[in-house]
Amino acid sequence: MTSNAHLLAIDSISKAFGGVQAIDTVSFALSPESITGLIGPNGAGKTTLFNLVTGIFPPDSGDIRFRGESISGKAVHELVGMGLGRTFQNVELFSSMSVLENVLVGLHTRTSCGIIGSVFRTPRLVKEERRARERALELLDFVGLADLAHQRSSDLPFGWQRLLELARALASKPDLLLLDEPAAGLNMGETDTLGELIESIRKHGITVLLVEHDMALTMKTCDRIVVLDRGKKIAEGPPRTIQSDEAVMAAYLGKPK
Ligand SMILES: Nc1ncnc2c1ncn2[C@@H]1O[C@H](COP(=O)(O)OP(=O)(O)O)[C@@H](O)[C@H]1O
Ligand SMILES: [Mg+2]
Repeated sequence: MTSNAHLLAIDSISKAFGGVQAIDTVSFALSPESITGLIGPNGAGKTTLFNLVTGIFPPDSGDIRFRGESISGKAVHELVGMGLGRTFQNVELFSSMSVLENVLVGLHTRTSCGIIGSVFRTPRLVKEERRARERALELLDFVGLADLAHQRSSDLPFGWQRLLELARALASKPDLLLLDEPAAGLNMGETDTLGELIESIRKHGITVLLVEHDMALTMKTCDRIVVLDRGKKIAEGPPRTIQSDEAVMAAYLGKPK
């Protein structure tokens, strides 16, 4: 189940906040270049699981391995450097910066010139900056925002800010991308486009873990689905099986939004 053949292996992790057991002995693993959906009612622990995997805080117990290496307790920037990228449920952009600058921030986590290069503006740095701008524009084009490169990011409609965050996450060249409710705030047409983007991201060799409330998108896009309820994994399998799973239906029907 959690061999090195998996890109990410989550092994019996738990996390409590005060008296709330947000994640309770959860295990599952992601095969390389798969798209896995992580679903469950509000408060099930989905965002907490993302925060554990991306190093926002460590698990109370259990282990998380990325390419076979334990990553529990590693810092966020180390994990970005190792190839872990994410977007946030509440969109975290630099609101006073332009659309383009927000993607450049993501790229700078991977450019090589250090402090000396930045102070003296070496030719290498100038060349690197030009390439970074080109790459940022390519990524904006990929998510359909290239025409808005010079707008302030906070002026974009909320749904488009999510797409911008996606472009920024891709800028760090992740091998694993965690998307927290990327379709929230998108209309139906935009959600379809997002589904195609996620497929295309996978075709570029990136493994995807997707938290999403849009069931049509999740069922259509994901190879496998993991279901959480009150911190516990209650089901895992292909979309077909999950759709007709009784425990899953009970979890959703028992806690209407
Ligand atoms: N940083 C935090 N501090 C305290 N409680 C938290 C924190 N993050 C999540 N929780 C609690 O953990 C539970 C799971 O929340 P969350 O992971 O956000 O669920 P989901 O993303 O599935 O809606 C909730 O009861 C929530 O209030
Ligand atoms: Mg959440």
